[in-house]
Amino acid sequence: MKPSAPVGVFDSGLGGLTVLAALARRMPEESLVYFGDTARVPYGSKSPEAIARFSAQAARFLAGRGIKLLVVACNTSSALALPAIRRAARVPVIGVIEPGARAAAAAGRRRVGVIGTEATVRSGAYARALRRLGATATAAACPLFVPLVEEGWWSGPVAAAVARRYLAPLKKARVDALILGCTHYPYLKREIARAMGPRVALVDSAEETARAAEAALSRAGLRAPAGRRGRREFWASDAPERFRRLGRRMLGGVVDAVRLHRLDA
Ligand code: DGL
Repeated sequence: MKPSAPVGVFDSGLGGLTVLAALARRMPEESLVYFGDTARVPYGSKSPEAIARFSAQAARFLAGRGIKLLVVACNTSSALALPAIRRAARVPVIGVIEPGARAAAAAGRRRVGVIGTEATVRSGAYARALRRLGATATAAACPLFVPLVEEGWWSGPVAAAVARRYLAPLKKARVDALILGCTHYPYLKREIARAMGPRVALVDSAEETARAAEAALSRAGLRAPAGRRGRREFWASDAPERFRRLGRRMLGGVVDAVRLHRLDA
């Protein structure tokens, strides 16, 4: 494995661009290959079996692009499919759950709230990771957040009302940190912060995962040479033009060309 090989980033759709952006900010010299399974998004309402099967197919595709590390940006896949992804990828794999849980617990917070898709919350993966770190978890699924972000409704009265409604039980539980356990949620940070109040620290798994990826590459002696700018490559399993349009809204000009790669159902 060469240090100049790219890092793979996988998500069920385009929300994982938040993780790609965090990786690019932290390690601009690394080349990044992103795959979004836009043909089958959302994963958050699918069965564990389907999530594991789809995720493994995506991992196999990225492994074929010669990656040196795979970052699973999707919280739902990280919660339910890491063993299947590891078998398929045959390179080191980093999910978003452990880094997010560690960051919440490291801030000395003991009562941690977690928000994510239905599948992520049902899996209990964040709750288990937090328990191992001595913290307790109160979790809530927020399924309407994903379409709100994709529509570009990142703030305003609709986003505020939805946030207040979903987050009320977490406020009542008096959590002192809240993990944004879904790729899309960082875009709603303002409304989430308003609904939770200033006492609650928001934990963005994307930043923590980028930190973990950097540490893993350094440990393995696989950091790309400094001083160059890495390549960015984008793939989607359906509607690459829509990916490009929404991707540009989320990340700006970084998302230029998006190529199509279909995965078998
Ligand atoms: N990428 C998913 C996650 O982070 C959100 C979208 C979906 O349900 O597929 O959980």
